[in-house]
Amino acid sequence: MARRKKVYEGKAKILYEGPEPGTLVQYFKDDATAFNAEKRATVEGKGVLNNRLSEFFMSGLNAIGVPTHFIRRLNMREQLIRAVEIIPLEVVVRNVAAGSISKRLGIEEGTALPRPIVEFYFKNDELGDPMVSEEHIIAFGWATQQDLDDMVSLALRVNDFLSGLMLGVGIKLVDFKIEIGRIWDGDYMRLIVADEISPDSCRLWDIETGQKLDKDVFRRDLGNLADAYTEVARRLGVMPQRE
Ligand code: C5P
Repeated sequence: MARRKKVYEGKAKILYEGPEPGTLVQYFKDDATAFNAEKRATVEGKGVLNNRLSEFFMSGLNAIGVPTHFIRRLNMREQLIRAVEIIPLEVVVRNVAAGSISKRLGIEEGTALPRPIVEFYFKNDELGDPMVSEEHIIAFGWATQQDLDDMVSLALRVNDFLSGLMLGVGIKLVDFKIEIGRIWDGDYMRLIVADEISPDSCRLWDIETGQKLDKDVFRRDLGNLADAYTEVARRLGVMPQRE
């Protein structure tokens, strides 16, 4: 097959031109980075696991009417997606305190939050993705008030879906990050879930033991990252098969 034209290369994924207008091919690399890419490694098999897991989560969301960019998986490392205009915000939903909220507010990791908390971070590597308020987002024109309402509602629907799915296999969804993009059907603009949903972008703790099954294994040197992701895929019954 002819080499596809590269559109964008990020830390863990590459986007190529898709076969039809309005589509892209998303390739999952084995690269792992943390702390704004200060820590890097190659984790064999991570790309394959994340491609399969993101397919599983996104196709499940599509099936319950939460729109995502996912069209279909193409092979072990690639999926066909809809091209979107990414809103330059990371949307984080938290059910349990961990990571930056624990550090910032001095809340002990593992403390259940009184309700899911939605936060926004400005996507900017040079600035280290600073947290921003709705006021900043509207004042700087990154999204409208209507977009924000829709983003919160999308994020909470994703949270309900993923929390339930994980609970069913004995995993607590502590928090996660999604990215959201705009697509146009004629003049009508819609927001859809984009990027990826995988253990790279979620915190997943075993309900019984508290064992971490997500990228904190890499960030905090807690063991083998691919083993943790494999355990998530195994429990969900979506282990990648060689093709
Ligand atoms: O670091 P923090 O506690 O704010 O992260 C919250 C959630 O968002 C975690 O699940 C983390 O993996 C995810 N995240 C991400 N990409 C970032 C920042 C956070 O996927 N750039």
